[in-house]
Order: sequence, then structure tokens, then C-alpha cells
Amino acid sequence: MDKRKIVDEIERLKDKRKAVVIAHNYQIPDVQDIADFVGDSLQLSREAAKLDCDVIVFCGVHFMAETAAILAPDKTVLIPDIQAGCPMADMVTAEELRHWKEEYPGKKVVCYVNTSAEVKAECDICCTSSNALKVVESIQDDTVLFAPDKNLAAYVARFTDKKVIPWDGYCYVHHNFRVRDVQDKQDLFPDAEVWVHPECRPEVIDLADKVLSTGKMVKEAQVTDKKDVILGTEEGIIHRLNKLNPKTHFVPVRDHAICTNMKKIDLSKVLRSLKEMVFKVDVPDEISQRARGAIEKMISIG
Ligand code: 13P
Ligand code: SF4
Repeated sequence: MDKRKIVDEIERLKDKRKAVVIAHNYQIPDVQDIADFVGDSLQLSREAAKLDCDVIVFCGVHFMAETAAILAPDKTVLIPDIQAGCPMADMVTAEELRHWKEEYPGKKVVCYVNTSAEVKAECDICCTSSNALKVVESIQDDTVLFAPDKNLAAYVARFTDKKVIPWDGYCYVHHNFRVRDVQDKQDLFPDAEVWVHPECRPEVIDLADKVLSTGKMVKEAQVTDKKDVILGTEEGIIHRLNKLNPKTHFVPVRDHAICTNMKKIDLSKVLRSLKEMVFKVDVPDEISQRARGAIEKMISIG
């Protein structure tokens, strides 16, 4: 089927199913362009809870769709490719987290939203890349366990007097950016501002003018007057930034900075998802309730 026909069919089925398509900032351009809402991981899950619809087709990775299912238990949440996971989220299991907690009796655990529902159910509070510091500071103790991203943990530790004990996880896309990559791009664009995601290595963060979640990059792109911006994040976001601000030249810090899981979803899979109602993201009630507690605690902090 050609692209026009697929898009028409998606629209027809969206009406029929009372469905909404939401997409993460890293999705391929075709998927971003047909989505009803594009955003960062938390914006999407919060949007899912507010939407007036029966079905949500979540174009992102599995933990994001799970968070949406937890926050919108009355809706059917579908992910168009069940293999679209997040390797960083897979770096810690609920069992591993339970053992880790036993090593630090009484200490509170902060979990990045990039974790499975089972892991969220074991933690005290969740955080995102934009509110991690606020969440850590909200804990009434001088030591905090932080999982799974060691780079985000190290970034937060710069701004708090608390001891932040990290899990040894990382995002392979952001961890792969090196000082040399940033410097090479700075040689090509000497007046460029450098924006990086807090999942980057500390030495890369040291070179940044701004450290931003994908949601904050989108906001910043709408107000910047810079001619060139070097971006230390997954390159899928550049499509969105170009649409919002065609005047600024957004340059990826490294060519082919791609999260392969984010690229698994395409228009044909979105269509199949709506046609066959696959793949349903279900979180067992008991896990969902505990995980929701940790997510809602975070949301109440801001
Ligand atoms: P955001 O929460 O900034 O959208 O990031 C999600 C993610 O997976 C970053 O790699
Ligand atoms: Fe996970 Fe990294 Fe992909 Fe984000 S970019 S979904 S953290 S692997």
C-alpha cells in the first residue's frame, strides 16, 4: 500500500476505534507527522491519562507505553511493535533492585522512568530527566539510591549535598557520545551552542551550554536565536526541532546517533496496530498500583 493510502486508513481506523496516536520525540518523521501528540516520555504518559479516547496507540518504547497504561487504566494502550524496548530499562530487574535495597537497609530508591513497571513498583519514587534533582532533594535522608542511569545520577549529584549511589546502567546511545565528537562538531561550527541530554557522560556534559531533557530541548528550540546548535541526543528529535524552528541549524553531535528500538515503529505497524488491536500493553493490577504510587509521588513534586 502506498503511504497516502496507509495514512488514510490509519485516520479511518482512528475514528472507528476512538483512538489517538501519540509519539515520542525520537520516532521516525512519518510517525511523528501522523501523531496527534508528540512529546517526551512523561508528557506522553500524562497526556494519555487526560485524553478522551478508548484506545491509545503509543509510538515509543515499552516502558513508556507501560507508564501510559498505569496512568490510564480505563483505556486500551497498544504499542505497534512489541520488540521496541529500552536497553537501559532492561539493565535492572525487580529482583536485582530488591537485592540492592537489602544492601542499604532503610535507604530510599529513586527510579528513572526508563524502567519496567515491576521495577517502578519496587522503588519509593520515580523521576524523569527534567525533575531528577527535585525528586532526589525531596527525600528526607542524606543518602539516596538511584537506578538505573549512572550518568543521570552523576549529573544530579553535582547539585545536591546528598550522597547519590548509582546503579551501573546507561543509555547506549548517549553514553556513546565522546568529548572528541563534541569538539569535532565545535571545530565545524565554532559559534554553536551545545545542548546535551543528561544521559550523556559527565565529561560530555562538562562541554555543554545546556543540559536538557527532550521536552526541554523542544521548548528551548522555540526561543533560541542561535544559528547553530549541536545536539547531544538521539537524532530523531531533529525532525521536530526543524519544524518548530527552521532558522536554526540543529546538528547531531555524532552522525547516526540512533536508538534502534525507537525506529522499529513505522506507518505500516501503526496501521496493523489499529486493525488488529495489537500489541496490548497490560500491567497486572498489583504491580500497576504500586508503580502508580511512585509515579504519582513524582508528579506531585512537579
Ligand atoms: P525524555 O524523557 O527526555 O523524553 O527521554 C527519554 C529517553 O529515552 C531518553 O533517551
Ligand atoms: Fe532507552 Fe536510550 Fe533508547 Fe532512550 S535512547 S529509549 S534511554 S536506549
